[in-house]
Amino acid sequence: MIRRYDYGNPYPSFAAVLDLPALKEAPPFLETETEGGEISFTLSLHNVDALYGLGEAVGPIDRRGRRYQSWNSDEFNHAEDRQSLYGSHNFLIVFRASEPFALFLDDPGRVRWDLGFEDRGRMRITSENGDFSLYVITPEEGTPRKGICADLCRQFRVLTGRSYIPPRWALGYIQSRWGYAGEEDLTAVARAHRERHIPLDGICLDIDYMDGFRDFTLNEKALPDLKGVAGRLLSDGVRVIPIIDAGVKKETGYSVYDEGHEEGYFCKKADGSDFEAAVWPGLSCFPDFFREDASRWFGDKYRVLMDMGVEGFWNDMNEPALFYSPEGLDKAFAEAEELRSGMMSHDSSFILTAAVDGIKNSMDDYRRFYHRIGERTVRHDKVHNLYGALMTHAAAEGMRRAEPDRRHLLFSRSSFAGSHRDGGIWMGDNFSWWSHLALHLRMLPSLNMMGFIYCGADVGGFGADVDEELLIRWIQLGAFTPLFRNHSALGTRLQEVYRFPKWKTMRDAIKVRYSLIPWLYSEMMHAILSDGLLFRPLGFDYPDDPLARAVEDQVMLGRQCMIAPVLAPHVPGRNVYLPEDMLLVRFRTPEDYDTEEIEAGWHYVRLDENEFPLFIRRGTFVILAKSGERTSDLSVEGAATLGWDAEDYVLPLYCDDGITFGAPDGHIVPIRMERDTEQN
Ligand code: GLC
Repeated sequence: MIRRYDYGNPYPSFAAVLDLPALKEAPPFLETETEGGEISFTLSLHNVDALYGLGEAVGPIDRRGRRYQSWNSDEFNHAEDRQSLYGSHNFLIVFRASEPFALFLDDPGRVRWDLGFEDRGRMRITSENGDFSLYVITPEEGTPRKGICADLCRQFRVLTGRSYIPPRWALGYIQSRWGYAGEEDLTAVARAHRERHIPLDGICLDIDYMDGFRDFTLNEKALPDLKGVAGRLLSDGVRVIPIIDAGVKKETGYSVYDEGHEEGYFCKKADGSDFEAAVWPGLSCFPDFFREDASRWFGDKYRVLMDMGVEGFWNDMNEPALFYSPEGLDKAFAEAEELRSGMMSHDSSFILTAAVDGIKNSMDDYRRFYHRIGERTVRHDKVHNLYGALMTHAAAEGMRRAEPDRRHLLFSRSSFAGSHRDGGIWMGDNFSWWSHLALHLRMLPSLNMMGFIYCGADVGGFGADVDEELLIRWIQLGAFTPLFRNHSALGTRLQEVYRFPKWKTMRDAIKVRYSLIPWLYSEMMHAILSDGLLFRPLGFDYPDDPLARAVEDQVMLGRQCMIAPVLAPHVPGRNVYLPEDMLLVRFRTPEDYDTEEIEAGWHYVRLDENEFPLFIRRGTFVILAKSGERTSDLSVEGAATLGWDAEDYVLPLYCDDGITFGAPDGHIVPIRMERDTEQN
């Protein structure tokens, strides 16, 4: 059951698709306090309560014991103590022995979460705006404990809508790098993969494909003929996926700017002039996506590139990221001057650094501009966390208008609850660190709880130089995530798999992924269409097993499997906890793997560098298709079953054309175990 309580004067909801009546009285079990415009809820926690949710955040799967803040941030340093990343995902499950529930704070402003940090026995949630709807979700009557967390997520999805459906090709391997500018890079990268038979379905273009980082333009030198090159690559099964940034370069004569300025589509300062701040193209203006007309205008621009054969995009810098505003820069220079003219003291350098550092993504700037929301003029900081969601919505709507019957690839950096209807997300600027490989794994179930089923991190890590072993282990995790993209930053070591001596090991892992795609796609579609989760914490499925609940480095995948990737260097394997008997599949290639039945409990599983495991639950199986180099090569016909000898298990395999929304195309093929076709 979902109950809604309104506080203050909530903004029109982006997240909720259900219009529930708001109840008058406050929820009885939450202690409510109001102070200086802020509203806080406090709840006592029992020793064994687990807290799941908050989507994209650094930290453990069970969120307890830490502090978080919902404040969409262009945060390139995902350090242990960071409280905010790019998305605000105010959904939290309080999983307890009696009366478990979930809550969702539909609040686009800053929210602080103390989940047992000050006091392990207490959680406290504070809305700084005090204008929001609070939804309290309780399990449907009769739900078994095993299904409670999934049921709470399902109801949250009923409230916020069905998840975005990507095209099937989006499950293919995608190669990306900040620095790819045009035809030469695209052709070389595609060729290098094809020559070595490394599967590939997409190449991302980063900001350098544009003319001076201007959205919806092309770098004429590097990419004179996008249509031609996109067509040639597509005929070989490779899609080109350009980036679009939120900021529009301020420059008279650049048509996107001229239109936006003349029509008044950009965010305004208090004096009515356009708000300006620098991002990649230099001083830029920011479309006011809260306005219907501005959103439509920007969304329709995607067509410029779609008409050249583009079928997918990634939206970036949409928190929005602000390098500096002219006002912020003046202030920093003034502070520096003041320091210079005064006496230098031991802390002058810190003050100077703070003044310079503070020009980036500054609160002063977020308070400097306004949005039109219907009849209201609202200062940006009050609704900050919605900006990226609305950019993605504009893009999704633009693509839907252009081609209503076709699925498009779209993933965004910034997001809010409800963005899962419009696209996927990637986890932003991680580093080539082992700890970020583990973070990637832990964030998967939390993002799924928000409905972001199509998600993944930059495989190999974005910042810093990757080493070969880390890249191998990362590819072995990416092989299971719907978005499987190798992306890295300008200036870092080149990270395409073919650059490394052991590229064959990586190729083989990618090939295993392709063999699994028919099954993985089916499980992803099942999660989307049933408002379920593809990745779940073990505690969801085994709520009464305290060991399963404590596991933070393994996750359930689909209805049949569990994954437990190797997350450390130089190890010959890893410890794995099995909450029930499972079949270990130790993959080397799609054709070369061994299987072993393992009993419930702790096990040390040996995994050489070229091996990675998939655990299949007793009595079930998955299918393994003949691998290919493009998703279009894959077929369910002739696929082998892989798993337990299970006469009474029928795998409901979801199949469709992978590109339209046509319901008649979507159908379930019941797959039974065929011992003869099983390999090995
Ligand atoms: C941001 C993005 C990153 C991209 C870079 C350049 O840092 O998060 O993925 O490569 O900008 O566009």
